[in-house]
Amino acid sequence: MDARQMKIKAAAEALKHVENGMRLGIGTGSTAEEFVRLLAEKVSEGLEVRGVPTSERTARLCLELGVPLNSLDELPELDLTIDGADEIDASLRLIKGGGGALLREKIVACASKRMIVIADETKVVETLGHFPLPIEVNPFGLAATRIAIDRLAESQGLSGEIHQRKAGEGFYKTDGGHYILDAFFGRISDAEALASSLNAIPGVVEHGLFINLASLAIIAGPTEVRTLAP
Ligand code: 5RP
Repeated sequence: MDARQMKIKAAAEALKHVENGMRLGIGTGSTAEEFVRLLAEKVSEGLEVRGVPTSERTARLCLELGVPLNSLDELPELDLTIDGADEIDASLRLIKGGGGALLREKIVACASKRMIVIADETKVVETLGHFPLPIEVNPFGLAATRIAIDRLAESQGLSGEIHQRKAGEGFYKTDGGHYILDAFFGRISDAEALASSLNAIPGVVEHGLFINLASLAIIAGPTEVRTLAP
């Protein structure tokens, strides 16, 4: 089974948690897109849901496939969010933001009663940090924010380069008009401490550590689909 088939398997399993009438947060990335495709099939067969997309990219796919959408302002309380992740540990702490949508993803997940993460088994890790941590920053004062992040990392025993994410010839901008710094910290031994100190830096809009947000992870491997709960 190839990676795409595993993503489809995880997405199909997640779809079983979707009930008629639900207000759904819909994630971003290649795994979330497989979920959108399967959801669209169910919608065409009569399933009634309202989706709140976590990115313009997801919104475009939903509209193309006929999944009805609302904004988070129209539906500020959601029943369930289904989203992918870049890394998942055994306590369901996540690194997200590889697809650049972490701010909206976190806002939508926080507005949901439950968040289910869908992934193939390559995303499961013992300790977070092999995947570079995306940090969404305000363009104003970027150099000062970088220095603050460097100092914070040093104080927490983290080292590694921080790269500003690129897109073509320029720098990547999120749907909200922010930049992303990808921090190659390596093993993050205290994700909670790092998360709260990053939040204390004014130029940091949000970071990709998702802690205490996911209530279930559906992990597809080559032969079976398993679930992880915190
Ligand atoms: C986007 C994300 C994605 O969920 C994450 O990058 C995983 O993507 P994929 O399913 O393509 O591996 O956080 O910001």
